[in-house]
Amino acid sequence: MKYFVVTYGCQMNVHESEKIAAILENMGYTLANDRNEADIIVFNTCAIREGAEDRVFGNVGNLKRLKKKNKELIIAVCGCMTQKEQTAQKLMQKFPFVDIVIGTFNIPKLRYYVEAVKKGRQFELLNEGELDETLPYKRSDKDNAWVNIMQGCNNFCTYCIVPYVRGREKSRKEENILKEIKEIVREGKHKKITLLGQNVNSYGKDLEKQVTFAKLLHDICAIEGNFTLSFMTSHPKDLTDDVIEAVKNEDKIEKFIHLPAQSGNNRILKLMNRRYTREKYLEIIDKIRQQIPNCRITSDFIVGFPSETEEEFNDTCTLVQKAKFDSIFAFMYSPREGTVASNMPDQISEKVKRERVNKLLAIEKRMQKEGKS
Ligand code: SAH
Ligand code: SF4
Ligand code: F3S
Repeated sequence: MKYFVVTYGCQMNVHESEKIAAILENMGYTLANDRNEADIIVFNTCAIREGAEDRVFGNVGNLKRLKKKNKELIIAVCGCMTQKEQTAQKLMQKFPFVDIVIGTFNIPKLRYYVEAVKKGRQFELLNEGELDETLPYKRSDKDNAWVNIMQGCNNFCTYCIVPYVRGREKSRKEENILKEIKEIVREGKHKKITLLGQNVNSYGKDLEKQVTFAKLLHDICAIEGNFTLSFMTSHPKDLTDDVIEAVKNEDKIEKFIHLPAQSGNNRILKLMNRRYTREKYLEIIDKIRQQIPNCRITSDFIVGFPSETEEEFNDTCTLVQKAKFDSIFAFMYSPREGTVASNMPDQISEKVKRERVNKLLAIEKRMQKEGKS
């Protein structure tokens, strides 16, 4: 019996698919070369932009022909997109050949759903999940081992669906993180460790025994062995000096910070509920450059946020020019149902969003060519 997992979205989802793979292997499944030879196919989905959801609908639809060929094939859809009740219902109705539809918090129970499929289609969305500290992972990357340090997000940036589909911030206990990393180092297969969280800088704030993210970094670096450490994602409002110092002083930490700015305009940043200003953001960039001259810095931007004017978009362009990033990701704003921004007036047309994203990427490309100086 063979399995195949299709993953959309961020590193968090990539890592979660490693958990899905481990659950299926524990049930006796082995990895298929492609979806055509699989007995179970799992789609681990993303809801961050509409495009991501459209792709899932298209690709799940295409599985109909496989199901026709193999009536025993089990098709499961899980993840951020199906955590939204309406979307999950729509998937169930539109695709009667899908056997299992579950949300983000149901993944630890995947074995149960697969076993129950013989009794009928399985549909369940849990609203809260305990942090899962015990399940193994089938690490899929040769060099890099992902380590989850927290789940969820409390920030509620007004454009973002993540807090609704991943729940509130929950940090793993430090001792469990250290144990997992010691095990990775002892095994010696992975030379790189990447800590994952939507907002790693607020790690530990919800724990009974409070631990700062900087302390966690130092404690991990104190583990003996040959490995490099990195982390994502940092929120500019929470990137504290002690974290910058840890990156500077710990040899094991990669000199790299991904610091999404989203916009270079203060009115838009406020509407986005990012809780920092353009000036504050540039100050942090300056501080990192002063402290760690060889640090790579990358960022994310959203263009065409509701009511963004041409001048305000221009502030994003000048911020990119000033900050001299090593690279950026630029996204066209995508309204997500249920978020505050999706109901804001003056939504921007697709055409203007496309023009702005192209312009921003052209600036970035030109700067890359000119060597950033
Ligand atoms: N937790 C991280 C990133 C989460 S999502 C952070 O706080 O930065 C990754 C990126 O997707 C974001 O940085 C943002 O640029 C983009 N994004 C999120 N919601 C979006 C939306 N509705 N439309 C377009 N891009 C979005
Ligand atoms: Fe979304 Fe903002 Fe949380 Fe990042 S910090 S996951 S952008 S709500
Ligand atoms: Fe990640 Fe997409 Fe979910 S970016 S947290 S998989 S909505």
